[in-house]
Amino acid sequence: MARHHVSPVTVQTAIRRVAADGVVEVRPGRGSFIAARTESRPPDLSWQSVALGAGRRGEEALSTLLAMHKPETIALSSGYFDASLQPASALGAAMARAARRPTAWERGPVEGRYDLRDWFAREAGGGLRAGDMTVCSGGQAALATAFRGLAAPGDTLLVEAPTYLGAIAVGRDAGLRVVPVPADTDGVRPDLLASAFESTGARLFYCQPLHANPHGGVLSRERRGEVLQAVADAGAFLIEDDWSRGLTIDGEAQRPLAADDQDGHVVYLRSLTKLVAPGLRVAAIGARGVAGARLRTARGLADLFVAGPLQDAAIDFLTSPAWRRHLSGLRSALRVRRDALFDALERHLPELRPATVPSGGLHVWLQLPDGVDEAEVTVAAAARDVAVFPGRPWFAAEPPGQRLRLSFGGAPAELFDEAVRRLADALAAS
Ligand SMILES: Cc1ncc(COP(=O)(O)O)c(C=O)c1O
Repeated sequence: MARHHVSPVTVQTAIRRVAADGVVEVRPGRGSFIAARTESRPPDLSWQSVALGAGRRGEEALSTLLAMHKPETIALSSGYFDASLQPASALGAAMARAARRPTAWERGPVEGRYDLRDWFAREAGGGLRAGDMTVCSGGQAALATAFRGLAAPGDTLLVEAPTYLGAIAVGRDAGLRVVPVPADTDGVRPDLLASAFESTGARLFYCQPLHANPHGGVLSRERRGEVLQAVADAGAFLIEDDWSRGLTIDGEAQRPLAADDQDGHVVYLRSLTKLVAPGLRVAAIGARGVAGARLRTARGLADLFVAGPLQDAAIDFLTSPAWRRHLSGLRSALRVRRDALFDALERHLPELRPATVPSGGLHVWLQLPDGVDEAEVTVAAAARDVAVFPGRPWFAAEPPGQRLRLSFGGAPAELFDEAVRRLADALAAS
């Protein structure tokens, strides 16, 4: 203290800091001593690769999708809204009210709060009731619950081609054989779905009927009945991932398939993370009959239940005027963004502009010209501070060509022109 003219508090802070680094050893009641030097060698962690064996396919794609970008990067790769579209203050108020309620911190039922389950069941619009629904911490957890609860390792899971890469990854993680069925802008091909059920004996089909990620397609009215029939004929379940409800830009969204399900073949999944904010990790999955009970059990095994305050905040927000305001503001904001992205494509990459403009959702699916490598373009775009996502990981088997997925949810419209200009530059350079 005398030498450095500092207070005892400063000296104590300094000693604590060097003690944490192992330089000084504090012996209570005796004093602080210079620690004995140990011969340090860098840890050899290479044995872990042998112990853990082969990695799991699909893990890398999901980590890449969720990677955080540098602040200067224009994110055309995010499946979530950027902060400007998130109702942060209304959510914050709902969370503060929830956190003050002592009951929010108590142990709740594994299947979740009744009123929240009821909200999700009513959104499905069919025969599902609150008692059929199980609250999960996001859509990804709900998918894991469904694949583990309704199938056993070695079973086949049919998925659309292309489809959400996280569903392919979590299906494989559950030990399932993931088999693709071609889909186009009108959704999955019912004729090929029927033959896939027949040739594989599958009992599970994962499907996004509304504004599918990554291609934005909507299952057409003509195909809806045929798809439900193919599922019923196979004695199978269709897991309807309705993540994009509320993100329709043009016209009215068709009702969920679950609303037309007579005999309990449709398992309904709805997450709030896309529509509200990625941090509102609340979703629900539901099915009638024994399947609903299996989902509840699988959910409990995974991580018991979703945090009470988060569930309370979710239902508080969903039943407040802020929810309606949020929904109505979204439609026009998304239209501005989608149109700005298409205008930018028209200006800088007219040959890549898709013929069909998606009627909602968050994504635009581009087909690259022959001879262009999607991975190279992605790297070249990243070097120009634009994040886009390559097409390969969205296919459970060989892709039919080179693609890119662009998203208009994660960045403001005024950046799109510059982003697509740089993307055109990246394409020219690769
Ligand atoms: C189609 C689809 N389903 C489910 C999820 C999982 O989302 P979350 O766990 O945030 O609800 C995603 C995320 O990208 C998705 O795109």
